[in-house]
Amino acid sequence: MTASQEKPLIRSIDVIRKKRNGGELTRAEIEAVVNGYTSGEIPDYQASAWLMATLLKGMTRAETAVLTDTMLRSGEVLDLSDLSARKVDKHSTGGVGDKTSLVLAPVAAAGGLAVPMISGRGLGHTGGTLDKLEAIPGFNVNLSVAEFRKVLETCGCAMIGQTAEIAPADRKLYALRDVTGTVESPFLICASIMSKKLAEGIDALVLDVKTGSGAFMKSEKDAVYLAELMVETGERMGKKMAALITDMDQPLGRYVGNALEVVEVLEVLRGDGPEDLRELCLELAAWMFFLGQRVTTIEEGKQLSAKLIGSGAALETFRKMVALQGGDARAIDDAKRLPRARHTLDVPAPRSGYVTAIQCEWAGTACVILGGGRERKEDAVDPAVGFVLHKKVGDSVVAGGMLCTVHYNSEALGSRAQTMILESFAIADTPPVHKRPLVHRVITKSGEKN
Ligand code: URA
Repeated sequence: MTASQEKPLIRSIDVIRKKRNGGELTRAEIEAVVNGYTSGEIPDYQASAWLMATLLKGMTRAETAVLTDTMLRSGEVLDLSDLSARKVDKHSTGGVGDKTSLVLAPVAAAGGLAVPMISGRGLGHTGGTLDKLEAIPGFNVNLSVAEFRKVLETCGCAMIGQTAEIAPADRKLYALRDVTGTVESPFLICASIMSKKLAEGIDALVLDVKTGSGAFMKSEKDAVYLAELMVETGERMGKKMAALITDMDQPLGRYVGNALEVVEVLEVLRGDGPEDLRELCLELAAWMFFLGQRVTTIEEGKQLSAKLIGSGAALETFRKMVALQGGDARAIDDAKRLPRARHTLDVPAPRSGYVTAIQCEWAGTACVILGGGRERKEDAVDPAVGFVLHKKVGDSVVAGGMLCTVHYNSEALGSRAQTMILESFAIADTPPVHKRPLVHRVITKSGEKN
């Protein structure tokens, strides 16, 4: 055996140092780190150091494209060309109370699109679609490719996580980023999202790029940069793309926490639910129908989406998907079958006035602290915990009135979350002057902003 067969030609320590010093990595170097980590040859500590160096020093467009491509090719790319429906998906960059995927997949499928959705778990202070779905007793997000296809063919949508077959590199790197403070990099987010989405065999993708205090990209400028990066990456691969820059300066809807969010999803699918969540779902669904060529205008797409909700067709599709993926479909009509926390605790307003802000990252972190997310890779998520907001930005409050109710299972964690949520509220004598729009702007082609 020669020396070159015994030891890898590219040493991770050299790649880490090169990135730490601001160098541009070659394809071979990126492949060595990503493939080495995915196969288990490179340990967590070296992958973490490389992720942190990447977060701090950034990547060129060429490096980002190679990283996306390497992560995509770590697994299988689905070929769904035998399905006659247009394959369209939506992905969010992550938020607090952001449960739109659970509404959008059945709405789009009920409207004739195929939605092969590969999602992620909670990341940092944000919630994850997979954790929310798993709050439905029995729901299986770990289908094989053959099972995934079967669900998709039967009801028009299927929702799973990355597997050993599809985007395994993202599965490992995503879990590591979650606990090493290496989420907030546009390059890593782009590669993570686009590698999963390009593996799905879709024709079109709608991106929900969040901005504000609860988003990874706090400023609109950074959100636009990320959106353009992803739109460009998708278009290069021949996909129809649109990115909506949407507000995440306060939690979306009123419910935060996995099972609680399922309850709110069901409200929206029944034609109720909070205004902001419902409006955003209609807007994103409209873009899915537009890119999927089911409608010719966004307005027509919104009307179609509202009709599919109003007729109950979307709820029926959701019910079918839940049953096909092993979930207890009875939970759809009987919320008592969803996990429930043992205790609740109110957060009273310290003074009268108007809510002028809710620091959304703190609110999301409060949910993680309760056990609704992970602080370490091996942590199990408690599906029952979270909180329900009674007041949102712009609402008037009276001293001692309820701002929020915390759902908890551990006394100590409940009171920590209570303090954190209280601190996240800003209350002043007058209402906020500017109301932030729900959709800040839409980016439909690289560099083109609407
Ligand atoms: N969603 C993902 O799938 N990946 C990220 O890195 C961030 C949000």
